[in-house]
Amino acid sequence: MASFASFLSLLLLLHSTTSVIFARKLQSVVAHGEDESDYSSFDEKYAILWGNDHVSSFNQGKEIQLSLDISSGAGFVSKTNYSSGFFHMRIKLPPNDSAGVVTAYYLTSQGPNHDELDFEFLGNKEGKPITLQTNVFANGVGGREQRIILWFDPREDFHSYKVLWNPHQIVFFVDDTPIRVFKNNTDKGVAYPWQPMQIQTSLWDGEAWATDGGMTKTDWAHAPFKANFRGFNIDGCPVYASNTQPCYSTDFWWNGESYWTLSPSQQKAYEIVKSNYINYDYCSDRDSHPTAPLECPQ
Ligand SMILES: *[C@@H]1O[C@H](CO)[C@@H](O)[C@H](O)[C@H]1NC(C)=O
Ligand SMILES: *[C@@H]1O[C@H](CO)[C@@H](O)[C@H](O)[C@H]1NC(C)=O
Ligand SMILES: *[C@@H]1O[C@H](CO)[C@@H](O)[C@H](O)[C@H]1NC(C)=O
Repeated sequence: MASFASFLSLLLLLHSTTSVIFARKLQSVVAHGEDESDYSSFDEKYAILWGNDHVSSFNQGKEIQLSLDISSGAGFVSKTNYSSGFFHMRIKLPPNDSAGVVTAYYLTSQGPNHDELDFEFLGNKEGKPITLQTNVFANGVGGREQRIILWFDPREDFHSYKVLWNPHQIVFFVDDTPIRVFKNNTDKGVAYPWQPMQIQTSLWDGEAWATDGGMTKTDWAHAPFKANFRGFNIDGCPVYASNTQPCYSTDFWWNGESYWTLSPSQQKAYEIVKSNYINYDYCSDRDSHPTAPLECPQ
């Protein structure tokens, strides 16, 4: 937390300086520290979902690499459903030219009217920034895309991408910085994800839409594209039957009161992200949503 505090004071200090310097400083200050507890082996909690021959394992299963070529991509999935938690994955995106390539880390329920929480990294040409798109589906309703350009190059190193999901809020984090908050607004009539979800990752060809709205296609001369994953322990409440109620207990640390809202320092960091790094927000897209959705600022 100490490094997060210094990161924040730096954020505030740099708020008024140019974004280039800002991004450079952020990159050097954000903790790259690797948490030993992240080094669980893949097989304990996860299994390959598709593209078996496009998955490699390193370091006794503590690192997994998915690859994409013209024949296939690949994906993996948690062996269990969860109904609350503070989920995380350390990811290093395909280097160099990855236009058209989508790397995804998400939670999803099965069946109709599904719930889903997405991180989707939209690849790009070498030297052009990766877009991180997040989305929230609740009771089958999505269309809540938000896109940010990160303050570092996610192709160069592993970073943590996390989702807090408790009865009060869903928060997407990049390392320790909140980039998106979806509150439980059921009292306003907004559906809130509650269905048991499995964690999934995938690497696939999204050239139809991912880069420049689909104008920039995947260049297969640069295949195979490879994304690496670490951090296979899971802080989540497993659900083996359909009763999700026990997962709302404050006995789980991520359901405790300090996780019901952002802390003041997290709120400050979030404000900086909102004013500097978001380049698309469904809340302000009047073409797709002629009136602001209920969960958006009115
Ligand atoms: C997760 O729950 C769904 C029902 O919501 C069920 O169909 C699926 O088999 C469960 N997955 C696991 C791995 O238990
Ligand atoms: C990819 O980029 C890195 C530097 O970012 C460079 O060292 C490497 O040679 C490049 N690889 C290819 C295949 O262009
Ligand atoms: C959302 O909040 C309501 C109270 O406003 C609570 O009853 C409900 O359990 C919460 N939903 C989830 C999925 O946690």
